Amino acid sequence: MQVADRLQKIPPYLFVTLRNKIAKARAEGVDVINLGVGDPVDPTPPSVIEELCRRAQDPINHQYPIDEEKGMLAFRQEVARWYAKRYEVELNPEGEVLGLIGSKEGCHHFILGVVNPGDVVLMTDPGYPAYRASIYMASAEPYAVPMLAENHYLPNLGDIPPDILKRAKAMFLNYPNNPTGACATRAFFSRVVKFAKDHDIAICHDNPYSEILFNGQERLSFLSVPGAKDVGIELNSLSKPYNMTGWRIGMAMGNKEILAALCKVKENTDSGIFNAIQYAAIKALQQEDGNIAKMLAIYTQRRKLVLETLAKIGLSFIPQNGTFYLWIPAPKGVTSINFTTTLFEKASVVVAAGTAYGQHGEGYIRISLTVPDKRLEEAMERIQKVF
Ligand SMILES: Cc1ncc(COP(=O)(O)O)c(C=O)c1O
Repeated sequence: MQVADRLQKIPPYLFVTLRNKIAKARAEGVDVINLGVGDPVDPTPPSVIEELCRRAQDPINHQYPIDEEKGMLAFRQEVARWYAKRYEVELNPEGEVLGLIGSKEGCHHFILGVVNPGDVVLMTDPGYPAYRASIYMASAEPYAVPMLAENHYLPNLGDIPPDILKRAKAMFLNYPNNPTGACATRAFFSRVVKFAKDHDIAICHDNPYSEILFNGQERLSFLSVPGAKDVGIELNSLSKPYNMTGWRIGMAMGNKEILAALCKVKENTDSGIFNAIQYAAIKALQQEDGNIAKMLAIYTQRRKLVLETLAKIGLSFIPQNGTFYLWIPAPKGVTSINFTTTLFEKASVVVAAGTAYGQHGEGYIRISLTVPDKRLEEAMERIQKVF
């Protein structure tokens, strides 16, 4: 069977590789602890589950979703209220908000909506691997801008070569950042707006970790910066703040023309999100504070535990303030892969190698805090015994 050439350029998806490795070890009786994947084990709030069950009973919701690919108006209105309250961003639910089947869907359809084959799409290195795959699937060309610790993990836009800029049509950014945990500043976002205007580049700011912040870090939307709506969109998601990764619901906001293009792709690809899930998501967004505060308290404790353990084995570092990941420097002279392999072979603990996110991830590993407390404690005990 012939498969498309464009798929040949896409490496195996990191988490599929990890999943296979874990399944093999578990089949051999090894008690593997997986700190590699960012998928919260803590449950979705009960009121959200109740709303889903109630709405699922109503046959009207068994038909194609209301407003199909746009997302139902009630959901878009709730997103607009949430954005106004939490990020001080004013959005018109008609035209400036779109429902998504998760932020990942939005990334993919954004690219299909705005680039032509052969165009360049800018992303960061390290960066979320799905961006590169979507760029290839659109027969476009990724250009990775280094994101270095010495620049606070913000890409230096001035370093992008002029010939690349001429061909660049879009850019992915993501703060709070996966995998580094770094947060952006308003000043950086203002530079991005000017850069996008100067070079006619459509920005997609992927912001699914917008609520996962520590040490008083300010919540920040790209759209809160003057001019952002002229050049780009922001994606967000219910996955992380409400422990709803499996529900597949998110949203896109901002520039009307980009959203219309994204919507046109969706119109011909999916028919929107199950109504009952949209109603449940409205419930989640309405009860924002309690759920989010609870979730943050859990991650704060887990972060503390990991940082204390790492300090005991001589790995002290200043963590970034965002996401439920810790971007951890490997011991001096040890590569990402060697560190990852040692943890797996000697402690049966799986972590993600920094290089899975790009060459500038060398020298780091990423640990996710989305496992049960007891398993994290066990993982930390095992790691201490190895070092
Ligand atoms: C940067 C980034 N964008 C998007 C996603 C996917 O989010 P969603 O569940 O909303 O599709 C993830 C998930 O890990 C992510 O890290």
